[in-house]
Amino acid sequence: GRLRASFAGVHPFVAESEEARGISRAAEVLADLLRRAESGEEGLGWLRLPEETSEDLLAEIESTAEELCREAEVVVVVGIGGSYAGTRAVLEFLRPPFAASFPGCPEVYFAGHHLGSFYHASLRERIAGKRVALVVVSKSGTTLEPAVVFAWLEDHLERAGALFRGPRSIVAITDPEAGVLRERAKRKGYRTFAVPKDVGGRFSVLTPVGLVPLALAGIPPRRLLAGAYEGFTRYRKPEAENPALRYGLLRYLLYLKGYVVEVLAVGDPTLEGFAEWWKQLFGESEGKDGRALYPTSAVYTRDLHSLGQYLQEGRRHLFETLFVVEEDERLVLPFAPEDPHWGYLAGRTLRDVFEATLAGVVRAHTEGGVPLVDLRLRERSPEALGEAFAFFQVAVAVSATLLGVNPFDQPGVEAYKRHTRRLLRGAE
Ligand code: PA5
Repeated sequence: GRLRASFAGVHPFVAESEEARGISRAAEVLADLLRRAESGEEGLGWLRLPEETSEDLLAEIESTAEELCREAEVVVVVGIGGSYAGTRAVLEFLRPPFAASFPGCPEVYFAGHHLGSFYHASLRERIAGKRVALVVVSKSGTTLEPAVVFAWLEDHLERAGALFRGPRSIVAITDPEAGVLRERAKRKGYRTFAVPKDVGGRFSVLTPVGLVPLALAGIPPRRLLAGAYEGFTRYRKPEAENPALRYGLLRYLLYLKGYVVEVLAVGDPTLEGFAEWWKQLFGESEGKDGRALYPTSAVYTRDLHSLGQYLQEGRRHLFETLFVVEEDERLVLPFAPEDPHWGYLAGRTLRDVFEATLAGVVRAHTEGGVPLVDLRLRERSPEALGEAFAFFQVAVAVSATLLGVNPFDQPGVEAYKRHTRRLLRGAE
């Protein structure tokens, strides 16, 4: 596998015997989820996505990307929540940090993931005069943020003549049959892809929701799916050695012991998007009925100089999950052995310093009372990220079910929407 998990930093806090007692229950939970997925139960389609994605769909995604990328200079992806987070995670992880695009591919920007006017006005300036393809992702079609920003952008781009093939420069990814976006796409003649009915937003990165915009950005969908396939093959096994099962169980056992916050500490800023995807997956899947760990994140080593203080000495109600990518970029430091201050770093690389810092963190934080899960991605590739998606999706389904909540609904996000609609309609 491309993901390595170590739970040694948890065992000072959860006895191995306790894990051993819980693992058969966790395995039953996973086996039951698999049975329900096989029988086509609502919300469980993600467990079988890599093998159930048809060759026809992949070919259609690839040909759409090829066709649009021949002409588009910019792709704007409009969506929020599960219709945004996975695409951003992959893009930020794989795209060189200072580039807006991969060589020969269009620049990619996000919109409608918030309602900031300054951001959207600046985006309008940024893409002025360019040929634009617009991708709108909304399973329901009724989500306010992407709906209003899409309408605004479409209107602006139409007037500016930026949609180089008219409505065929627009790709709508939404419910296969119903909803206002599906109707609008039919009426106006956009290209369309379907979000499978049995896959919820935060589990949908490996459907057209993520695959289409990522293909337009230059990331091959087949490579993501290949990694996810290998991942699901490993992590679907209801066996004690399955690291996704162990992680799901251990975070639940930690929660029961009062560790009610989980910090995903990612190794560098290219994983910040992944941390956002992770927070959505865990926060929306578990946080209900007055329960669950609060998922939060830190970016290392930056946040060792901010949250690091709390992690080391603050309230002991949190545990840490390190998520780091192993890389072989050799950036050799220029220090000479006789350098009075830095001589001990002579001949070492930036990575050596980073690894030593991580090892220092693992020791200091566990000694300071923070249970620690250590996850390493072996490479920076679409396959590795595909596997990571499988790992965390299986883990959240297991831990949420152990906790006694339904991982696949999100009743709580409706409350503010109801208020917002009433306020905008002038009912209050
Ligand atoms: O995970 C979820 O279900 C949500 O976060 C949705 O993805 C999000 O609310 C966006 O919904 P939609 O795709 O319907 O616009």
